[in-house]
Amino acid sequence: MRISVFGCGYLGAVHAACMAHLGHDVVGIDVDESKVRALSAGVAPFFEPNLDTIVRSGRESGRLTFSADPAAAAGAQVHFVAVGTPQRRGEDAADLTYVHAVLDALLPHLRPGDLVVGKSTVPVGTAAHLAQRIIEAGTGAVLAWNPEFLREGYAVEDTLTPDRLVYGLPPDEQGKVDGTPARQHARAVLDDVYRSALDAGTPLVATDYATAELVKVAANAFLATKISFINAMAEIAETTGADVTSLADAIGYDARIGRRFLNAGIGFGGGCLPKDIRAFAARAEELGRGDSVGFLREVDTINMRRRQRVVDMVVDELGGDVHGKKVALLGLAFKPESDDIRDSPALDVAVRLKGLGADVVATDPHAILNAIQQHPQLGFATNTVDALFAADVLVLVTEWAEYRELDPWRVAELVHGKVVIDARNALDPARWAEAGWRYRGMGRPDAEPAARPVVEPLEVAVVA
Ligand code: UDX
Repeated sequence: MRISVFGCGYLGAVHAACMAHLGHDVVGIDVDESKVRALSAGVAPFFEPNLDTIVRSGRESGRLTFSADPAAAAGAQVHFVAVGTPQRRGEDAADLTYVHAVLDALLPHLRPGDLVVGKSTVPVGTAAHLAQRIIEAGTGAVLAWNPEFLREGYAVEDTLTPDRLVYGLPPDEQGKVDGTPARQHARAVLDDVYRSALDAGTPLVATDYATAELVKVAANAFLATKISFINAMAEIAETTGADVTSLADAIGYDARIGRRFLNAGIGFGGGCLPKDIRAFAARAEELGRGDSVGFLREVDTINMRRRQRVVDMVVDELGGDVHGKKVALLGLAFKPESDDIRDSPALDVAVRLKGLGADVVATDPHAILNAIQQHPQLGFATNTVDALFAADVLVLVTEWAEYRELDPWRVAELVHGKVVIDARNALDPARWAEAGWRYRGMGRPDAEPAARPVVEPLEVAVVA
């Protein structure tokens, strides 16, 4: 099958490469020529595990090409729309400029029977509007909505073996393709695209446009709510001396609740959850149903409060004045296994602390270059040792494995103040306290340093 994918960002680049991996002939199209150049050279323009490998193999097989020219889509039977729908500046609603621009560029190249497939996260009602535009242009093409649920860091895996597939199909009144109703035609084409996943037993929900659009935002709203729920419990735990991690374990054993996405900490960030819940609330208000998802405003508020909580803890640990104090910040990406700093809680905390006068030195295995471009005023270190050297406080804000596995005995030698703020509840409090640190987590009791660090015989013997 010949496929075009408009947008070569986190969603589109992965989708294009995975479609080629499945045996389709794919052209990825993006207005950003530097992305097109990088991808054409077999290099992913951002960090995503395994993406480089499948881009390279796609290029070598000849099944994957990239172009900045929308005319390259001519001749493809399926056209995916995978561009961003960012939050509008100063507003909560989604900005659909890029989605409409893709359709403008695509319309002249559509032929009867072509399938345009929306993947971007959009406000409910967008697909019906776009379908109308396609009909009015008299192209004979059909629109389907096929939301994407991939997680950054697992994008390739999630695309090749999704939890489920969702098709938003046109109503039959939208005409026929060679005598076949539009709905049946769209379904048959999508089945061909996703044949391998369907053969492997991936559940499929075939539905209408509005439901497909809503599935995506409902899923993200649910996940965000789960995180803010456990962070709300963390706040209560902070007042009562309870431990939110044990609480999450205990409620998570109930299969109806489940332990995943119950990690309390600094809250959620990234290019999806924060802006999607805001856009959903804004869309519901437009529809006169703001009351139905009013709780999402609270979910957002709780989430943002956790960032300030981390800042307050740092200020508190530094005696109320952070001026001239060195804060070592481990992590900049919004989550591990990603270089994405969009709405990153880690970066937000760094900026807030810098604003208060702290000497912030941040590090991250993959996100430093992105962070420098946006916030050159911050201090950066390319490795953990430099970040920690002579620090007054250590703050773990993104739980990369290498930070989780830090040896508290070894790093104690580097720092000035042995205080660790674990904004992700990723460390073992007892172990850090034994090594002489004061440990502070999120919604769990502080652990005070052992009077004299308990000697970890082998480690210390080797260091000495
Ligand atoms: C999310 C959805 O998971 C995905 O299905 C959708 O397609 C896009 O949005 P992503 O943004 O890649 O994916 O990240 P995700 O793994 O969901 O994490 C989102 C944020 O929540 C991160 O900042 C993460 O650190 C935070 N998080 C996650 C928590 O704070 N606690 C948790 O228990 C889980």
